[in-house]
Order: sequence, then C-alpha cells, then structure tokens
Amino acid sequence: MSTWLQLERLRFAPGERRILDDVSLALAAGRTVILGPNGAGKSTLLRLIHGLLRPHGGWLSWRRPLSQAMVFQKPVLLRTTALGNVIYGLKLKQPDAAKCRRRAEAALDRAGLLHLAAHPARLLSGGEQQRVALARAWALEPELLILDEPTASLDPASTREVERIIKDIADSGARILMTTHNLGQARRLAEEIVFIDDGQMIERTAVADFFKAPQSAAAKHFLKEEIP
Ligand SMILES: Nc1ncnc2c1ncn2[C@@H]1O[C@H](COP(=O)(O)OP(=O)(O)OP(=O)(O)O)[C@@H](O)[C@H]1O
Ligand SMILES: [Mg+2]
Repeated sequence: MSTWLQLERLRFAPGERRILDDVSLALAAGRTVILGPNGAGKSTLLRLIHGLLRPHGGWLSWRRPLSQAMVFQKPVLLRTTALGNVIYGLKLKQPDAAKCRRRAEAALDRAGLLHLAAHPARLLSGGEQQRVALARAWALEPELLILDEPTASLDPASTREVERIIKDIADSGARILMTTHNLGQARRLAEEIVFIDDGQMIERTAVADFFKAPQSAAAKHFLKEEIP
C-alpha cells in the first residue's frame, strides 16, 4: 500500500481553540475509517481533506490529485426527484443529456433505487435519501469517496444496505475515507483505523489489530466506553 495522501502538521484553529492540532498522518489504505469521541475533530478533518475548509497551518500533500465526492450524515438533496438529484450532480461531467440520464439511472440501479427514480427525493425515507446521496456520489465515479457518518440515523437494515453500497463503490476502485460511531461498521468496512482524540492524531492501525490491541491508552479507553 502506498501513501495517497500525506497530512503534515495540519492545524485548524479558527478561534482560541485548536480543533485540530498539528495532525500528521499518511493515508495509504483503500478503506480508512476515522474513529474518535464526539468533538474529536473527525468531521473537521474530512472537510479539510475535501477542501471545504482551509487549514490554519500545515499542508496536505497528494501523491496525485484525486477526484472526490463527499456524502454527509444528513443528505443534502434538491427539491426534485431522486433521478433529478443524481442527474444534477452529473450534468457538468456529462453534458450529453441522454448519456447523463442513462448514467444516473445506472447509479440509482446499483443503489437499489431505480424503482424510486421518479419520487420526490425529499419525501423518501432517511435510508432511501442516503442511498440517493450515495448514488449521486457514485455516478461521478470519484477516485476518493469521503463519508461523514453515513448511517448515523438509519435502522440496521438500511445501515447494512448503505454498507453494501459503500463496499461496491470500494470494489469499483474508489478509495473510501469515512467516519462512524458504529464500531461493527468500522470492523466491516475498514482496512485501517485512524483514531483521533481532542484534535490530536493518536494512532493509525490495521483494523484487526485496532480492535484486538489498540496501541494507545486513549483508544483503549474509547473502546471500553463504546463496548462495555
Ligand atoms: N468552524 C468552526 N469553528 C469553531 N469551532 C468549530 C468549527 N467546526 C467545528 N468546531 C468545533 O470543533 C470540534 C470538533 O468538531 P467536529 O465536528 O470535527 O467533531 P467530530 O469528531 O466530527 O464529532 P462528532 O463525533 O460529534 O461528529 C467541536 O467542538 C466543534 O464544536
Ligand atoms: Mg462529526
């Protein structure tokens, strides 16, 4: 595995507080899950990597530029149909309307949603909305897919369905970088775990080792709290 992104002393400190404090980290795995307590800085880190925030210090060093898409905990859907949402994201990339529509339908189909293509997206259930957001991201064929707690408010069946889609996206060649508070999900999806706590990078560990024997006291404590 070779490093595709190196973070060098990345700092995010908008006020007095340091939200991220000189985070240095090499990302090399195909599927990385960032774990850490509430407020650790996970979402901030993802937003910095996706370019939605600018760091106050340090830098990101990409091995080569990667096309990216990001999916949020609460899907941000437009007031149109499920298909319309996927088409909207694709239009710039695929200006030919017929091709764009076919590609959007294929993405919805892979997400198991073709039968809901004509439904108003905002009236779909939470799990269905999240799958529309995933289909929209997938249609773009990103080299890096960033997901911030993609199953936070979903029931177990929808969660598994979203995990299946994430796995398929990974199998189609995209790198996955995500956060979750669902440790079972972290085990199922990750190759590597990055653990951050209070804005500090604590450890990066292969998934099996992390759950068997985390290196840091902070991660041990975190796992003990999460799995009593
Ligand atoms: N732009 C900002 N300005 C000031 N404070 C911020 C900003 N963005 C985030 N924070 C604060 O930074 C801390 C880390 O937030 P972040 O959302 O990254 O945590 P998180 O690890 O994703 O937590 P959770 O598990 O609850 O999602 C929080 O205390 C938050 O209130
Ligand atoms: Mg968060």
